[in-house]
Amino acid sequence: MNIKLTAAALILVVAIGIWGCAQPRDPSERWYTAEQVTAGKPLFASYCAGCHGDRGQGGKNWERPQADGSYPPQPLNGSGHSWHHSLVSLEKTIARGGTHPGATMPGFADVVDKQQRLAIIAAFQDLWGDKIYAGWLRRGGL
Ligand code: HEC
Repeated sequence: MNIKLTAAALILVVAIGIWGCAQPRDPSERWYTAEQVTAGKPLFASYCAGCHGDRGQGGKNWERPQADGSYPPQPLNGSGHSWHHSLVSLEKTIARGGTHPGATMPGFADVVDKQQRLAIIAAFQDLWGDKIYAGWLRRGGL
């Protein structure tokens, strides 16, 4: 093969590679599988819905601290700020419980294992629209 052609082919391959990396991730392609969502839904219903709502809608006036200074359960359906937290941090919160002073959320480390905690996250992230999910990715969710 002639050298110029080989060089041109090489440049093309590198250019396609760079272009590919620069493409934003498609938010309709989620980190989790449909199986994880299916596994997470009943766990969410058993352990989380009582406080965060059956559709993850959160408690009333969740943005305002209560009389004792603690916060009501935030929405997990994408309307709150759960999308400001990375996957690692969401998983930690579920394992260890609430982070604000006086937080009433218990830790679930002894109740659900890591795989189940990730399935629960998949179940509530599946309620997030693509725009919220894309924002989460941009903030370094993964
Ligand atoms: C007893 C009520 C209660 C239960 C049960 C509960 N939570 Fe919470 N959760 C809260 C409260 C209250 C907060 C706010 C805590 C704080 O201020 O630090 C919270 C905060 C969170 C946050 C942080 C949200 C944010 O926007 O910062 C996540 C994530 C979360 N909960 C997930 C879960 C999941 C998943 C479950 C089920 C495994 C669960 N919670 C069960 C009450 C609860």
